[in-house]
Amino acid sequence: MSDTSVIEWHDVGVPEDFPDNGSWPVVAGGVEVAVFRLGDELFGLRDLCSHGAAKLSDGYVENDCVECPLHQGLFDIRTGQHQCAPLTEPVKAFPVRVVAGRVQVAV
Ligand code: FES
Repeated sequence: MSDTSVIEWHDVGVPEDFPDNGSWPVVAGGVEVAVFRLGDELFGLRDLCSHGAAKLSDGYVENDCVECPLHQGLFDIRTGQHQCAPLTEPVKAFPVRVVAGRVQVAV
């Protein structure tokens, strides 16, 4: 049986659009994604907290985590894994890559 899920890469800008210590909202294939930079690497998380109607792109970045602006739940930027209450679920993480000087997010 084959895997029917299809990953498509979507251009969301250039690396300079995503400097360190912040989070930026993009739309990739119609999906709202928060893009983060940790050192030389870029990461993407669904731009909606798993606990409520808050955008993680509005969150506070510290120690490789993003803090939800509404109730201060923490998510690991690399994996989307939730770190503390009131969160009970992770958020989806999306692969991010740079190809020929362009940033791409897979959804
Ligand atoms: Fe994000 Fe509650 S909406 S922690």
